[in-house]
Amino acid sequence: MLAELQNISKNYNQPGSDIHNIILNQISLQIAEKESLAIVGPSGSGKSTLLNILGTLDQPTSGKVILNGIPVNSLDEKKLATLRNQFIGFVFQLHHLLPQLTLIENILLPVLPVSDKVQQKMAIERAYTLIKRVGLTKQIHQRPLQLSVGECQRAAVVRALVNQPRLLLADEPTGSLDAKNAGQVGQLLAELNREQDLAVVVVTHSMDLAALMGKTYRLTSGKIQLILP
Ligand SMILES: Nc1ncnc2c1ncn2[C@@H]1O[C@H](COP(=O)(O)OP(=O)(O)OP(=O)(O)O)[C@@H](O)[C@H]1O
Ligand SMILES: [Mg+2]
Repeated sequence: MLAELQNISKNYNQPGSDIHNIILNQISLQIAEKESLAIVGPSGSGKSTLLNILGTLDQPTSGKVILNGIPVNSLDEKKLATLRNQFIGFVFQLHHLLPQLTLIENILLPVLPVSDKVQQKMAIERAYTLIKRVGLTKQIHQRPLQLSVGECQRAAVVRALVNQPRLLLADEPTGSLDAKNAGQVGQLLAELNREQDLAVVVVTHSMDLAALMGKTYRLTSGKIQLILP
């Protein structure tokens, strides 16, 4: 398995009381290599929480996250950061590109900390190939404010992939886009999933985006259920 959640629960204590809000209740999920899946569910159902736990940005109250066969709770902060940087790419609803940097500077940010010069050169080459792939070659010296939101989101997808992760996690990647741009970004994610050695997990309210993924799960009342196919 590429990634696995085992009996993941997440509770929040209500401030000033001993009431626990159970957000995720004993969730188990397996993600195979090259798989693509969507997670849908009502607002507040815990989709982002689940994705952040899978991406090791948040910790579960109980349960295990296993990435590439490694239980992440067995790793210290430094090893976990290295695994996260090499193994996972993130795309969020708002692209989080830095306004003062050009598109190419934003895209190459994750490549700067790569200490191996050969690896770094390969990542830069991959960045240019992906930029061409998503149709942004002409825009590389423009800053985010000089680009459309759709273009910025495509750049954010490229940035997430320059270190060649095996797992792409996207939280509402089309949430701030109009229908045309949302369709383009959705298609792009589906195509990259097929072309590259890349599993994709998207959290979304859009059934159109979910339909582009191989499987769709629904999260409600702390439980996850396969609804498609
Ligand atoms: N730090 C926190 N402290 C307390 N409660 C929290 C915290 N973070 C999230 N929650 C609660 O957990 C629940 C799930 O939040 P989450 O952001 O995962 O939902 P979501 O399904 O992604 O919603 P949306 O579709 O609106 O993005 C919400 O009820 C939220 O209020
Ligand atoms: Mg969310």
